[in-house]
Amino acid sequence: MDLVIGPLDLSAHVDEALAVQAVAFGLGPDEVAVRRQIVLRHMTYPGARALGATTAEGRLVGFVYGLPNDRAHWWSTVVEPYLRARDNDHWLDDSFVITELHVHPAYQNRGAGRALITTITDSATEPRSILSAIDTESPARALYRSLGYQDLARQVLFPSAPRPYAVMGAPLPLLRP
Ligand SMILES: CC(C)(COP(=O)(O)OP(=O)(O)OC[C@H]1O[C@@H](n2cnc3c(N)ncnc32)[C@H](O)[C@@H]1OP(=O)(O)O)[C@@H](O)C(=O)NCCC(=O)NCCS
Repeated sequence: MDLVIGPLDLSAHVDEALAVQAVAFGLGPDEVAVRRQIVLRHMTYPGARALGATTAEGRLVGFVYGLPNDRAHWWSTVVEPYLRARDNDHWLDDSFVITELHVHPAYQNRGAGRALITTITDSATEPRSILSAIDTESPARALYRSLGYQDLARQVLFPSAPRPYAVMGAPLPLLRP
């Protein structure tokens, strides 16, 4: 792979990262502005960290960030009843949450996404990882499954999100192909 995976000071590079997310995931300017405040807040939480995928010229073309789950955090409070309904809410304890993972479309399918999520979870001390992904068959869902993530809840509705999400969890370390 011609991209370098390494630590990212996400607070300092939030605009570059959100520019990647905007084109990879499809965010409008208003959504970017909202995400910007959320990312900056997340990066103040204990254990929050990010990795970037950078070209030889130093352009950020992918990133991942996550943090140890805290049941008091908004995301956790939204997914908790869905997990509890399936006796899966223990996944919220001692778990590293992948909050965002995005690779610029021009740089997808080169292994960057897999390298980003594997590397960040390798540094976690928690025995498991959880995340949410739009509840449809997508490259992201296929990637997560190949790493050992399984569905813990489906059709999870986040306030203001137009589409339902699946919550997925995997034991750490993640599976290698
Ligand atoms: C999900 C995403 C980060 C993957 O990044 P990537 O750099 O392309 O991923 P990789 O090259 O490491 O691909 C690894 C796996 O993804 C899956 N994948 C990639 N493209 C795929 C496609 N078109 N169809 C199905 N699976 C695909 C495969 O499982 C692949 O494994 P393989 O290489 O063994 O075949 C990227 O597709 C992306 O940014 N998508 C848009 C934003 C998004 O949905 N983010 C996740 C939000 S939850």
